[in-house]
Amino acid sequence: MSKTIIISNRLPLQISLENDDLKVSPSVGGLATGLKSFHRDGDSIWIGWTGLTEEEIPEHLKEDVKEKAKEEACISVNLNQEELDGFYYGFSNRTIWPLFHYFMEFTEADKEHWETYKRVNQKYADIILEHYEDGDHIWVHDYQLLLVPNMIREQQPDAIIGFFNHIPFPSYEVFRTLPWREEVLKGMLGADLIGFHTYDYERHFLSSVSRILRHQVDFNEVALPDRIVKVDSFPMGIDYNKFESAALNHFENTAEEQSELQRRLDHHLEATPDAKLILSIDRLDYTKGIANRLRAFEYFLDNSPRYIEKIRLVMLAVPSRSNVPQYQRLKREIDELVGRINGKFSTVSWTPIWYFYRSMPFENLIDLYTSCDIALLTPIRDGMNLVAKEYVATRTNHTGVLILSEMAGAAQEMNEALIINPNNFDQIAGAIEQAINMPEEEQMQRMKMLQKRLKRYSVEKWAQDFMKTLRNTKANRDSFK
Ligand code: UDP
Ligand code: G6P
Repeated sequence: MSKTIIISNRLPLQISLENDDLKVSPSVGGLATGLKSFHRDGDSIWIGWTGLTEEEIPEHLKEDVKEKAKEEACISVNLNQEELDGFYYGFSNRTIWPLFHYFMEFTEADKEHWETYKRVNQKYADIILEHYEDGDHIWVHDYQLLLVPNMIREQQPDAIIGFFNHIPFPSYEVFRTLPWREEVLKGMLGADLIGFHTYDYERHFLSSVSRILRHQVDFNEVALPDRIVKVDSFPMGIDYNKFESAALNHFENTAEEQSELQRRLDHHLEATPDAKLILSIDRLDYTKGIANRLRAFEYFLDNSPRYIEKIRLVMLAVPSRSNVPQYQRLKREIDELVGRINGKFSTVSWTPIWYFYRSMPFENLIDLYTSCDIALLTPIRDGMNLVAKEYVATRTNHTGVLILSEMAGAAQEMNEALIINPNNFDQIAGAIEQAINMPEEEQMQRMKMLQKRLKRYSVEKWAQDFMKTLRNTKANRDSFK
């Protein structure tokens, strides 16, 4: 029977070393958290990196690493430190990530990084080919593996290959600055179907293909000399039922079953019943607009001092890519901002910001989502932003207000949120005030509309739609033979 081979840089499980033993934890980030349920429910294997370098894994644990991955139908790709530096910290996260998010000033063009990126993409392709059997569907994910589709196509011309880009695709004027733009486009065009979260990303890609490679583009199809590549948008959803039922179960918890975090949140809510909690959750990434969010929050308190002691920002920043200098600088900037704002506004009984720099287990995320009256998500650029969708899914009593940046892919489907421009502090401050004072009836009206849409287009539906289109693309190809 044919299977689906999922490939992403990072596996949904991360393995780390603790006292000479292996510890398994779930990966953070939208790709892994979203696709996990598709993998869990279907007939698929998932190929990717475990989070440990070859040098870090002691000889006697090498087999165990493979086994741990195998238990979850995963196959581990071993990357050594040199590969990781050039491929992951280098080309993926110092060239493609900033460029595709319009941070051109952070974008490096290092030839050695590019060479390692090609080599590691080939390594992934080789492992896929080892596990590939006729009839399998290959589904490659994200910007770390842009060259993989064509590398597979070269070896298996008839393979059914889908590619999904989880981050924005920038406009032609930005993309054209990449020294290896032709190779990147050709790599992606090895797929039969290329998916993006939004129509805009799709359009940008097609415009680059037609202007850089001069291929004919008809509506959403690229005509190559020997085949057609279909390009389409599929906005990724979440495992709605999982978040909804976790929230419902959460309210059933007895006092003993509650987490320490929930007890603290409840304590706060009891002590100040008319105060509001504002939530912010992201990986610590410059694209997420965390520093601007803090400045906007300060601007709000400066201009509306009547809300002092009446609101609190609960900020979870998850450590990410901490070997890349921009991420290290951002961490320092955020530490300073939080310190300064707390120093400026704190009173004996109140601090305006609760700041957590760590990742949290799923149960604690549910504690935060269900306890906070407002979610404030202000990315400067974001492919999708699943946190926005997760917040909505957990609001089972339909209250709560989502403030969301128009620069997040998710904003295109979430009109009932308060949509803001993350660079406009007046607008953000206005939205915070509107959210604090929004009548419950209006909150519920907006929330129900959002929930209805998210429930209908869950991650399961997203994956089904993509796979169905992929199968049709292949059927069309066969009928032209
Ligand atoms: N997340 C997590 N642990 C945390 C904080 C967040 O697993 O401590 C998850 C969160 O539930 C969401 C994902 O990380 O599913 C973040 O996805 P999003 O699309 O918002 O942003 P990305 O990190 O992919 O840029
Ligand atoms: C985003 C990217 C994913 C990536 C995740 C976490 O969601 O689209 O490809 O896995 O961030 O980043 P990391 O660098 O830790 O894998």
